[in-house]
Amino acid sequence: MKVLDDIKNLIEDLLGGDTVFNNTKILNPEYIPSNLPHRENQIKEMTVSFRDLILNPGSSSIRLVIIGRTGTGKSVTTKKFGLKLREIAHERNLRLEYVHVNCHRQRTLYLILQEISQGLRLQLPNRGLSSQETFRIIYDYLEKRNIHLVITLDEFDYFVSTAPLEDIYFLVRVYDELNVTTKRLHYIFIVREITSLSGLDKSIKDHIIKNIIDFPPYKSTELYDILADRVYNEKAFKENSVSEDVLRFIAEVHGFDKGGSGNARISIETLELAGKIADSENSPIVTLEHAKKANSKINPELSALIDSIKELDLHQLIFLKALVLLHDQEGIDFFPIGKIEQRYVELSKNFGEEPRRHTQIFEYVRRMKLMGLINTRQSGRGMRGRTTLVSLPIPISMEFKDLINTEIRKRLEQSRIS
Ligand SMILES: Nc1ncnc2c1ncn2[C@@H]1O[C@H](COP(=O)(O)OP(=O)(O)O)[C@@H](O)[C@H]1O
Ligand SMILES: [Mg+2]
Repeated sequence: MKVLDDIKNLIEDLLGGDTVFNNTKILNPEYIPSNLPHRENQIKEMTVSFRDLILNPGSSSIRLVIIGRTGTGKSVTTKKFGLKLREIAHERNLRLEYVHVNCHRQRTLYLILQEISQGLRLQLPNRGLSSQETFRIIYDYLEKRNIHLVITLDEFDYFVSTAPLEDIYFLVRVYDELNVTTKRLHYIFIVREITSLSGLDKSIKDHIIKNIIDFPPYKSTELYDILADRVYNEKAFKENSVSEDVLRFIAEVHGFDKGGSGNARISIETLELAGKIADSENSPIVTLEHAKKANSKINPELSALIDSIKELDLHQLIFLKALVLLHDQEGIDFFPIGKIEQRYVELSKNFGEEPRRHTQIFEYVRRMKLMGLINTRQSGRGMRGRTTLVSLPIPISMEFKDLINTEIRKRLEQSRIS
């Protein structure tokens, strides 16, 4: 039983052993830190937009759009703002509630309304309610108790790309049609790119896009401050266990000005992983080596995909490029297969290639899915019949795009020679 005992000792050593962490919760994506370095301007702009609600409640219904890529602090900043606004309102005897709905999790109008009710701790009757009825109950509740409600629709692009138009219309406009004197509902829409709203009716668009606040990707010095705040102020790690060098390295890798994604989430994840690696090596400090190791592990999917991409034939690559281009332009993840095919046909012609037929495209999708190069799912109802939606399995990096372009060029050259 020697071996088993060794393993048991090993596990116990690690469990009871020293750790560089003080409190890992502080590194969770859901954690809301006290400070939000480099988002002061955005918070100022949000305050200006919501000033009327505090100073002159009921006079207007406020709409705000927040735009920025993944990891730019849109969710955390909005949540923090909502909570603080509520606090300030309460100090002024104004009843204000804040509800944050993630449209990626709450995928339908019905679920969104349920989530809003829950946020208000409002008990809905058990029988199946229509969205209209649910909305009416929420509204009556606010009216009866004289409550103002700020609703954040996070990842709203997701709702826009999957929900039927009438549901989007309902969510955005129905309140204005109620003809009320006191405006109690206020919206913050969070999207990744403004173009994700461009497919909407003009009437809806005009309605949403009044105030826009931009969340640019972080520069390396900004990421450094964000990481330093978690380590030295929030004390996610034990005293003196993380040096500035480690933070500087991670910040440099991901800083937008240094060619990185400017993504705070990935930076924090890398730091956490570096800590875990230090623990697994029984090291009392996180070293630069640990940070480098963590960094090379943080995108292991990409390296696996690179090999598969090299195996694709020209038309599969063009299809993949079409998907990447759409993703870049529209800032959403899932596209109906038909839409990608359209783009693919255009691209093929640009490359002087005869586009493959529809049935062949389906076969490509099936095969690339098996290779793990794309994800698919069926659309919900409402998209005029069910259709297959396609997305990429990982965030698109420059490296990923370059690889696709290089491979396409190689294939084109090969076919010209032969
Ligand atoms: N300015 C900031 N200060 C501190 N932490 C931040 C800041 N911006 C982002 N973060 C952290 O980075 C992670 C991603 O932020 P999040 O708000 O989820 O980004 P987004 O919603 O734009 O994708 C979270 O852990 C968040 O707490
Ligand atoms: Mg978010």
